[in-house]
Amino acid sequence: MVHNRVKKAWLYATAHGVYEASVNGEKVGDHILDPGWSSYNHRLPYQTFDITKQLQEGENVVGAMVGEGWWAGRLGIHGGTRNIWGEDLGFIAQIQLSFEDGPTEYVATDQEWTASVGGLITSEIYNGELYDARREPQGWAKPGFEPEVGAEAWASVKTTSLESLAATLVVSQAPPVRRVQEVEAVAVFRSPSGKVLVDFGQNLVGWLRVAVQGPEGHTITFQHVEVLEHGEAGTRPLWGADAKDTLILSSRAELWEPTFTYHGFRYVEVTGWPTTDGMPALQDLTAIVIHTDLEKTGHFSCSEPLLNKLHQNIVWSMRGNFLSIPSDCPQRGERLGWTGDIQAFGPTATYLYESSGFLSDWLKDLALEQHEDGGVVPPLVVPDVLCKMPVFKTRAKKAQAIWGDVAVSLPWDLYSASGDSAILSQQYESMQSWMDRGIPRKSNGLWDTSNHPQLADWLDPSAPPDDPGNGVTDGELVANSFLIGMTDLMARISAVLSKPCELKRYNEAAASLRIEFQKEYITQNGRIACDTQTALSLPIHFSLFSSDAQKLHAGKRLVEVIRSKARFKITTGFAGTPLVGHALTAVGESQNFYRMLLHRKNPSWLYPVTMGATTMWERWDSMLPDGSINPGMMTSFNHYALGSIGDWMHKVIGGLRCDEPGWRRVRIAPIPGGGISFAKTSFNSPYGLVSSDWHIEGDVFVLVVKVPPNTFATVKLPSDATEEEMEVGSGTHRFQCSYLMLEWPPKPTYGAFYRNAGDDDEL
Ligand code: BGC
Repeated sequence: MVHNRVKKAWLYATAHGVYEASVNGEKVGDHILDPGWSSYNHRLPYQTFDITKQLQEGENVVGAMVGEGWWAGRLGIHGGTRNIWGEDLGFIAQIQLSFEDGPTEYVATDQEWTASVGGLITSEIYNGELYDARREPQGWAKPGFEPEVGAEAWASVKTTSLESLAATLVVSQAPPVRRVQEVEAVAVFRSPSGKVLVDFGQNLVGWLRVAVQGPEGHTITFQHVEVLEHGEAGTRPLWGADAKDTLILSSRAELWEPTFTYHGFRYVEVTGWPTTDGMPALQDLTAIVIHTDLEKTGHFSCSEPLLNKLHQNIVWSMRGNFLSIPSDCPQRGERLGWTGDIQAFGPTATYLYESSGFLSDWLKDLALEQHEDGGVVPPLVVPDVLCKMPVFKTRAKKAQAIWGDVAVSLPWDLYSASGDSAILSQQYESMQSWMDRGIPRKSNGLWDTSNHPQLADWLDPSAPPDDPGNGVTDGELVANSFLIGMTDLMARISAVLSKPCELKRYNEAAASLRIEFQKEYITQNGRIACDTQTALSLPIHFSLFSSDAQKLHAGKRLVEVIRSKARFKITTGFAGTPLVGHALTAVGESQNFYRMLLHRKNPSWLYPVTMGATTMWERWDSMLPDGSINPGMMTSFNHYALGSIGDWMHKVIGGLRCDEPGWRRVRIAPIPGGGISFAKTSFNSPYGLVSSDWHIEGDVFVLVVKVPPNTFATVKLPSDATEEEMEVGSGTHRFQCSYLMLEWPPKPTYGAFYRNAGDDDEL
């Protein structure tokens, strides 16, 4: 195209596949993996770039590289399926040119465009890329390009009408995926079997930047893994994802990065490095961290280094899995938007990063796929690839508590963090479909799980490695506890949306369900029919008892189960893990939760930290104490679900929680414990920074709070002397009270009577 006095030039583009556009050979914008992953049969996001400065006098060239990405590459589990959304890759663009003088002109993709293959031979999300630098037509996206004689031909493209697109073109509410950080290699070494390994010191998500020069046609491969097993690259947890990039050198020096894949890795096994010893220097390889570029809003630190590391691991796992969709894991042949995982992690996620655009966009897809073909049950993964796999087709839409409950809980988490009720209106129909018609019920309104075996307290540590849903807690009890919690939320949401009839209906339903739950599971004094950490925690958290006395009785039993049965180790999975701390706090037993949280033996939150984890693991013992990888399937080293403990750390150790959706009113009530002598947490709320910062000086507890303009805080100090709560307005406020820090760890309350009494002390 030829231009004259362009005032403004915009490029609008999207693809069937993933694309990178360029103007005159220079990449447009700083996004990667556009258009991202969405439910492509419903919504296809397009991107808008200001390309004014990239245009030049005379001829201009717009180019685009397109890869399979999530559109056509292999996706799913147990091998996955290719071409889920389509077989043909495609690119659509429109350039809008406004001139100093004259009418606006448009240049759009059409029959005149030509296409060819370049150096990127294959690119797949799971498998990685094969790039042959010799085959890259130099200057192909610049004006004046003529293919070399004998080079790949440029053919005209096949066009298709806009009307034939299944999806609506939309503007995404989520920020783009970007390169957000560079991590230097910390070690290059040989494994016991002689392989060359590079360690980046951090399990991360992204890819390598490689600086290399070698003989033309020489091949180097980069195998990405999260962990080493007995000193060698641990590929078994990759579930058949190759996670391997291959670079074939040209005669030029290369500064190469893959374009249309990503890997979850800490280590890279390099084969064929073109030096005599076959070992790259540290500076030859750099890890590029990529994820959806969200703003960090929540921070936490305290005097206990292991807890700080745990918190950092939670943040890294969120970063690694907030990549276009909220995924379960970023490394293996899966990487899907499992709904139960974000159900558990929602409260932590919405504190750590400003996720409202990202997650509300994903929830739109959830609702569209839920209602596909007149359906009412949210898919287990969004975008739903399982329903496209014959082996999963029937299971993919089976009703599952927690996983389906995300339809209600996640909009609420987003509303709580932002105060914006639009997300509740947007998702209300989806919530109602699930709650009113999606959940299979008995005549008393409780769950009927007979045809719907529950994933329930998924991955509780007692479940056999090959049967992760088969834990100690009754799945139906779990489902029913969540059912009542979600029914309560439906009432609250109906109130926010001024729907009095629904408010009344859900309140009545919750009251009647409570009675049925009590009949089924709660003894008169407050014991629960299933005597596990999860089974006791859920009714406490969701207030399912008929009296406070019952609740306190259950609280005492929960402590007993934790102390004498589990010796302060954790026995919960996806259902109980986010809530056991909150349940203990609700019955005044935070100190016992500190003992669990600070436990270091397997299974516990700190066991992975003591094993050198730099992200959250999928199961408590993804790596066994002897350094071998757990023999089960579910052994990712980057899953955020068990990181849902972050919510308790922010609310109870840090002491900061919103008291009114949108943080107009906050509650600051830290509960110190565990020998921790200081802690601070802050949240960049819609009103500004709110923070709680406390320390213990001798026998005095000092708390400094920052309350943003136009907001109020209720402050409660951890003094035994008074239950008094104080109200303060915006500004910085300092409080203090006398506080006796107890000896830590506490002396065992029972001694040699227990065979392994010593365990109790070993934190
Ligand atoms: C995923 C989980 C998910 C689960 C449910 C797994 O493969 O990684 O995080 O929630 O399946 O079945």
